[in-house]
Amino acid sequence: MRRRVWVSVAGALGMAAATTLTPALLDQAQAAANGCSVTYTTSSQWAGGFVANLTLTNTGTTALTSWSLTFTFAGDQKITSEWNAGVTQSGEAVTATSLSYNGAIASGGNTTLGFQGTWTNSDAVPTSFAVNGVTCGGTTSTSSSASPSASATSASPSASASASASASASASASKSASPSASASASASSTGTTSSGGHVADPFTGANRFLNPSYVAEVNAQVTADGGNAAEAKVGTYQTALWLDHIGAIAGDSNVGLAQYLTDAVAAEKSGTPEVAEIVIYDLPGRDCAALASNGEIPATAAGLTEYESQYIDPIASILSNSAYSSLRIVAIIEPDSLPNVVTNQSLSACQTATPYYESGIEYALNKLHAVSNVYNYLDIAHSAWLGWPSNMSATPAVYKTVVTNTTAGYASIDGFISDTANYTPTQEPFLTNPTLNVGGNPLDSVTFYQYNPTFDELTYDTDMYNTLVAAGFPTSDRFLIDTSRNGWGGSSRPTALNSTPTTATAYVAANKIDQRPFRGDWCNQNGAGIGTPPTDEPFGTSSPIMGFVWIKPPGESDGDYPTSTHTHGDPHCDPAGTNTDGNGGTYGTGAIPGYDVPAGQWYAAEFQMLVANAYPAL
Ligand code: BGC
Repeated sequence: MRRRVWVSVAGALGMAAATTLTPALLDQAQAAANGCSVTYTTSSQWAGGFVANLTLTNTGTTALTSWSLTFTFAGDQKITSEWNAGVTQSGEAVTATSLSYNGAIASGGNTTLGFQGTWTNSDAVPTSFAVNGVTCGGTTSTSSSASPSASATSASPSASASASASASASASASKSASPSASASASASSTGTTSSGGHVADPFTGANRFLNPSYVAEVNAQVTADGGNAAEAKVGTYQTALWLDHIGAIAGDSNVGLAQYLTDAVAAEKSGTPEVAEIVIYDLPGRDCAALASNGEIPATAAGLTEYESQYIDPIASILSNSAYSSLRIVAIIEPDSLPNVVTNQSLSACQTATPYYESGIEYALNKLHAVSNVYNYLDIAHSAWLGWPSNMSATPAVYKTVVTNTTAGYASIDGFISDTANYTPTQEPFLTNPTLNVGGNPLDSVTFYQYNPTFDELTYDTDMYNTLVAAGFPTSDRFLIDTSRNGWGGSSRPTALNSTPTTATAYVAANKIDQRPFRGDWCNQNGAGIGTPPTDEPFGTSSPIMGFVWIKPPGESDGDYPTSTHTHGDPHCDPAGTNTDGNGGTYGTGAIPGYDVPAGQWYAAEFQMLVANAYPAL
């Protein structure tokens, strides 16, 4: 999946944006109640893989309320993920059915769907299609290695076949094998009984649901970049749906929450549950120590009420719909919030927000944990924030207060997540001993580390896990790491230990893979790369690390900065700006020069850079 050879083979095939054939002429005189036209376009193809986009047009005179598109691949393709349709495949025969939001197609209207898949001997395009049992006649097709496409039309009368948007919501989410770390497993699985069950590791034995909004963003970029195969790979991995404002619940910017979960259920195959990831991110006074992601809700008592009644309650209501009980819903809870409570009480905005953060998270945990197939992971920053011993030792009290105040206590959470939307490496492979003495100084004394002995997430999470367990948290509360942008590949990455430098500073500079000017830099980092794809149990079940996930969708901006044309944003996202450490040292922000993209928006140049610097390579 991540071998370089795929990139070069794809290049040899000369990927290009596919062109779509003009549909065969439709004889209007014969137009009848039911008719269809299907255009199938291979928008990218590489050795062993492809992405196809289809446009389904209703050429009949009556509106469709739902549709079932059937066709047979002419090659040996196997679909691995799909968007805007539920897909089943038997041999080479494919059935793609409408979802609740795209079943209606007016006469003359169309809808788009697509999928990604694999092939071994042939990626020959299908040439005949049927919609609701009506063959789209008048097929024309063509194919070439670079841009195969096919289109088909029909205007034949038909029976009123209606597709049922089948969603095989089988609910065998139970998992008998006991989870994880040495002992435990009990605390996080109490009080949870429903059809979906509540297992120790939601990712084990499950498929990861792809956010269709993100897949569409990636595929648009893939097409714009002439079918870039490495970019296309990114869209095959799971990312989270960020509910970063109240309107996001209904889907004013991305797919809405109910639709997202409906799609996830539709994607379930033969009793294997889908994991769907969401981010809860709208606390009163959000992002109190920065400006890039300031929220919509004020840090006031009224703001807390708004958060609870207008944000958490509607989300909990959707999540508790029994139609979604077969899913495993992983909820990332409020990035950066409790870490700001731990370390940023000297900032008045954080001091003001703290009681609302604590009450809001307690409320969210209560509501979400009450839904038995929801798994709560509390954000716990990353090594370059809470990794100093003084910060780490102050952390459990803050988290413990919030968690033990919930109705279910420790059982209200399933674990923690570190590095959400950040860039800290999972491992510094050549800097494994923070106290190694070089030229009279330990490595952690250099300016880049400032006596923070946790150089990477594996070290940080292990230390933090032990600290939390010692403070009373159950051993079953393991860690996820957001590896979406912490790969640090590319030509600047050291490939072997360089032990020749004679000062600690030079030794660190020669060996670290983290290329930021300063570990406190967090906005659109220049030189960063996509990290290890989502993985369950990357270090085995006895590790405190349960899994790698991609929470921040790679290619979406961290934030913009104020300029003469707009006032919004954060100066720490300004490529020409600076960040300061606690000792008055100043450093470049590390933000990619030449761009100014608001938080959450697609940032093509950043995406291209992250793909180019992916480690391991895509
Ligand atoms: C932004 C959100 C955005 C998310 C995913 C965060 O940094 O604040 O608005 O939805 O990233 O891109």
